[in-house]
Parts: sequence; C-alpha cells; structure tokens
Amino acid sequence: MHFKRSDFPDGFLFGAATAAYQIEGHQFGGAGPTHWDTFAATPGNVLRAENGALACDHYHRFAEDLDLLRDAGMDAYRFSTSWARVMPDGRTVNPAGLDFYDRLVDAMLERGLKPFQTLYHWELPSALADQGGWTNRDTCVAFADFTDVITDRIGDRVHAIATINEPWCVAYLSHFLGHHAPGLRDIRATARAMHHINLAHGMAMTRLRARGMQNCGVVLNFDHTAPLDDSAGAAQAVATWDAIMNRWFIEAIAKGTYPAEALAGFAAHMPAGWQDDMAEISQPVDFLGVNYYTRHQVTTDMAQPWPHLASHDGPGAKTQMGWEIYPDGLQSFLTRLADDYVGDLPLFVTENGIAWDDHVVNGAVDDPERIRFIADHIAATGRAIAAGANVQGFFYWSLLDNYEWAFGYEKRFGMVHVDFDTLKRTPKASYHAFKSAIAR
Ligand code: FCB
Repeated sequence: MHFKRSDFPDGFLFGAATAAYQIEGHQFGGAGPTHWDTFAATPGNVLRAENGALACDHYHRFAEDLDLLRDAGMDAYRFSTSWARVMPDGRTVNPAGLDFYDRLVDAMLERGLKPFQTLYHWELPSALADQGGWTNRDTCVAFADFTDVITDRIGDRVHAIATINEPWCVAYLSHFLGHHAPGLRDIRATARAMHHINLAHGMAMTRLRARGMQNCGVVLNFDHTAPLDDSAGAAQAVATWDAIMNRWFIEAIAKGTYPAEALAGFAAHMPAGWQDDMAEISQPVDFLGVNYYTRHQVTTDMAQPWPHLASHDGPGAKTQMGWEIYPDGLQSFLTRLADDYVGDLPLFVTENGIAWDDHVVNGAVDDPERIRFIADHIAATGRAIAAGANVQGFFYWSLLDNYEWAFGYEKRFGMVHVDFDTLKRTPKASYHAFKSAIAR
C-alpha cells in the first residue's frame, strides 16, 4: 500500500468498522425481532431472502475477530450496539444483551483498541416498527431511553459515541426508494423519517450530555454528485440531489436549518411543529463521521414527480456493488465539510471500502483491487488534511465479509474473508498490506 503511518499526524487513528446486525448473529442472546428480519422474509427485498440470524457468528467468535484487529495493529474499532439485543421490544431491557456489550468492550480494551460505538445501525425493534417506526415521533423518545440504558452500562469505557449511522439511508433509501427496511415508497413517510431521525440524534445527544459524555457525534454518508452533462436540467438536478442527500442532515445538525431545494418537496408532508425541534437537533457535537463510497451523475427527468431525477453511475471503473471508484470525491467532501459546515471540528472517515468477488485460493485471498482502493482513498484523505481539514482517523469498511443488507452475503467488503458455510476467517492480502502500512 502506498502510504505509511508516518505520512499522517501523530494520533491519527487507523481502524475498521462493522455493524451489529451484519455480523453478530441476531438469533443468539435473546435479541428481539427487527424490521430487517421481516423485510428479508418478504419476497423480492433481499437476495435469496438472506437475513442476519447467523451472519458471521461474531456473538460467539468476537475474541477471534478482535484478535484480528489487534494483530493488524489497528488503533480503534467502530462497532454498533443493537437496540433490539439490548431491548428486544424496543423498551424492555434484556440483561444478556447488556452483558454481551460489556464483555465486548472489555475485550477491545484488553487488546488496546479504542471502542467507537454507534447507537443505531439500522435494526429497528419490530414492536416499534409496528407503531410506525421512524414516521412516529415516539420512536425518537424510545431511542433516547435506549441511549440511557446502554450508556449507563458501557459509557464509562467507550472512546466515542455516534448516535445514528447514515440518516439518509434510514430515511430516504428506506422510505422513499424502498431499498432497505421498512421498504416503503411514500413521500409523506419519508419527510417524517427525514426529520425524526435528526430528532432522534438530537434527543440522544441531550441524554448523553446529561450523563457527562464526551466525544459524541453522528455518522453521515455523502455521495459525490455530478451533472450528467452541461445542460441546465443537469445543473438543477445536482442542486436538488445534493440538498436531499448531502446537505439535509449536516445543515440541520451544524446550522439548524433544512435546505430549500429539499423542503420544496418535503414541506407539505413534514410533522407539525418541526421547526421547534431544530435547536435540539443542532446542539454542538464533538466530531463528525463521514462515510464515503462513490459518485453519481444526475439529470432532470420531468416525467417523474419531484424530485424529477434520473441518476446514473459515473463512467469510471466499478466495484462488485457496481459503484464507481472515485477517490477525489472523498477529498472534496472532507474539505467542503470543514469549509462550509464544521470548521475545525474533528472529522473521521468512519466508512470507506470496496466489495469484490473474492475467493480463497490455496488458503489465501489475493485482492489487489482492494489494496489499490484503500491506498487511493487514504491518499485522498491525506490531501484533505494538507488542505486544512481536521481529519483524525480512517476506518475501513469492513473488517469482515458480512451481511450486506439487500444484497445478502454476496458482496464481500471485508479485509478478512468469511466462508459462510464454515465461518472460517481468512485475512486477505489487503489485511496484510494494511498491517504493514500502519506499523509503527
Ligand atoms: C453503508 C452502511 C454499511 C455497509 C456499507 C457498504 O451504507 O453503513 O452498513 O452496508 O454501506
């Protein structure tokens, strides 16, 4: 890999990320049903109708997985704590769930890994989905209560806490495009979820501050948005898409406002009195997590209702997901976020990675595409730092091949290969290359 630890400021953290439902094995330990279980059980939503019941069986194999992080010389580990494991119906505590995260955090500390916790990475308890999930404001209060419960147990040992992972996916991808649970395609549900997920972040921040917690923030995803051509329609589409995808959440959190280009479509469907929530949503955070994968090209399609958009993959080389590889987009977001929204606030690249059709051959996995991808995106991160962005860490998505949501187990993002028949872990060439690059 064409970088080394010494290219980065002292204290810069290198790590890897995962999420609970994607690796743990949701059937174990008394976790409750979630909207991902039912979404996956409904024909047409998920490849082969696969779900997270077993996943990587991290619930039982976490010691081995944390050994892999330690042995690679990683500084930090980004993981999520499953609401439905801790509170199976979203409200009642499951002591075995708290015990699991207690053991997990201790096991990180024993290995010298800084725990970066995420409170919500998508598996909403079914009992709350029954009551409207993120379209219902009460879900925000229940989430704040969950925040108290898990923080009272492990908050003394985690290094950093992010409230929500990728609110755009929670709201728009799941309620407008229908690609993720709960699989709705409804503008009114979307507008409500777009606001309530921000309110859930704000309410959780209030509870975390009441407990004196430091290093609290949020993880947002950004998609580099370019015009398909030099037409006025394409320029208009960029403004609309950028507002929905890239500006809605950071503007609410950093400035307490929503962009006009997005409100143009959502205003009529917003929950009454939403303006009164903006102060709680925009309270100060201690860091911003940035997830970045790809670029899209957009143009206007007036045959479609608002947002009148057609989206195309960019022209460059693609990953196994079909996502264009475009490292400059990462540099440009880190710089833009610092310049336009958060100034000197610490930024972390909390996810960046590549899926590839990896295979074990003679006990090894050769993945030069991933080695190049990581090196190019870490170089882009370095350029953003040189341009003044206060980036303090980089987490590769993901440590392990895992449950890639609607794509089931087919898409392999891991630095470590997982054989889903035997659950055997095999570090890929990229794992070894990353280890050498970050060695002290
Ligand atoms: C992000 C998600 C993560 C994973 C990667 C590929 O949107 O946060 O869980 O699915 O994409």
